[in-house]
Amino acid sequence: MAILGVIKNLMKPYVYRARLRAEGARLAAAEDMQARAVGDAFLKAGCSAFDASEQALMESVEAQRLKVNARTDAFDQPDYGAGAGAAGGEGRTVRRVVGEFAQAASSPQVWASMHFALVRAVQPARCLELGTCVGIASAYMASALRLNGTGGRVITLEGAPGAAAVAESNFRDLGLENITVVVGPFQKTLETVVAEDPGFGFVFIDGHHDEQATWNYFNQIEPALVDGAVVVFDDIAWSEGMGRVWRRLAADPRMAQACDLRHLGVCIYHRPGGAAD
Ligand SMILES: C[S@@+](CC[C@H](N)C(=O)[O-])C[C@H]1O[C@@H](n2cnc3c(N)ncnc32)[C@H](O)[C@@H]1O
Repeated sequence: MAILGVIKNLMKPYVYRARLRAEGARLAAAEDMQARAVGDAFLKAGCSAFDASEQALMESVEAQRLKVNARTDAFDQPDYGAGAGAAGGEGRTVRRVVGEFAQAASSPQVWASMHFALVRAVQPARCLELGTCVGIASAYMASALRLNGTGGRVITLEGAPGAAAVAESNFRDLGLENITVVVGPFQKTLETVVAEDPGFGFVFIDGHHDEQATWNYFNQIEPALVDGAVVVFDDIAWSEGMGRVWRRLAADPRMAQACDLRHLGVCIYHRPGGAAD
């Protein structure tokens, strides 16, 4: 059984890349310009068809990932997530070894490269991430913004001060100055971020994988989305509740497109009354 699990894990990137290519081919034939851009990004990530400058930036983040994965120091993580309930902040505190936490919780390369390709294709002025962890996905997004050359900033929210500190030191090592880390439970920080930093063209919801919390976070963020924003929901198959909220979001008329990539879901948001393209 253990061997089967290892084989299944080794196969995952191939399965996910095949899914990216299938959804990419579907969207690339769409009439809507934003859908075609997202489709092209899926194909790029699914085929690993990055140019040399893109490849170099992603490799530097991967080199940083290896360093952080090897860390043996530890920090305390407050359990603000599904385990502690949607109220947040009153759950357990878990001692985490940085390297183990980074390996278990960071986006793997296949998804991180998809975020990179999406940010390259969609060219958002602002990206929002719920759940920084040690900063791997935010580093990919910020590197893509840097290559876009249009300015742009990543705002990333993290409840565990220890994880946020590790992420900040990774960003310093990588020379990424276009990331703001907001420390505290989403339940307390998101309201201010949304009010102060509207205009998000790319959002990655990757923390507190609870059905109602995910629905609430999307609706809280919605007023700060631009028309055509790409919203990525992680771990849509993690629990029955996450599956339900994904199906609800995918069927919501505010979503112009919803792509089920098995592990995560990607939507294109259409602001009611906003331009289609
Ligand atoms: C799966 S990890 C994020 C991984 C990261 N997005 C990446 O791809 O590299 C989820 C993170 O969200 C944080 N988190 C979970 N629920 C939270 C909440 N309610 N408020 C603040 N942070 C939370 C956890 O501490 C954890 O670091």
